[in-house]
Amino acid sequence: MDRVLSLTCAAVVASSLAQAARAADAAHGKELFSAKCTVCHNADRDAGNKIGPNLFGVVRPSGSIIGFSYSSAMKGAGVVWTPDKLAAYLAGPQKMIPGIRMTFPGFSNPADAQDVVSYLSTLKQQPARTAAE
Ligand code: HEC
Repeated sequence: MDRVLSLTCAAVVASSLAQAARAADAAHGKELFSAKCTVCHNADRDAGNKIGPNLFGVVRPSGSIIGFSYSSAMKGAGVVWTPDKLAAYLAGPQKMIPGIRMTFPGFSNPADAQDVVSYLSTLKQQPARTAAE
């Protein structure tokens, strides 16, 4: 019984360590974003679109940036971007939504996709743009 208890404790400690490691990942995601995404995307609240749409606060319906000319595949995708859907998308954009114009091949390491999603999720915590600005 003691052995079961200490194994359980070890598992709990290990999983909270894993969570602590995940919490730091937005910083890694930001680095990955700079390295892999900024060639086509801005993620600053006030910046415009590039080859790809602005990704500030991207937890929103897909294909919804006004003034960005989406492919009909992306326009018709009907996805609401959640962290899970974004992670799946970033693992294989063309696999999830065939026919889109985003030529990024996808992260082969699922943890990298998760880290970029962690980073993108921090952006909506900045103050929203208001009419007064
Ligand atoms: C080579 C250019 C390119 C790269 C690199 C690229 N993207 Fe894209 N991305 C696009 C284009 C173009 C679209 C719009 C696709 C369409 O309309 O078919 C898009 C669309 C998206 C969308 C959907 C946005 C919406 O408004 O629904 C997300 C999310 C996204 N990209 C995230 C990323 C992330 C994160 C990275 C880096 C890991 C990345 N992209 C790398 C070009 C790129």
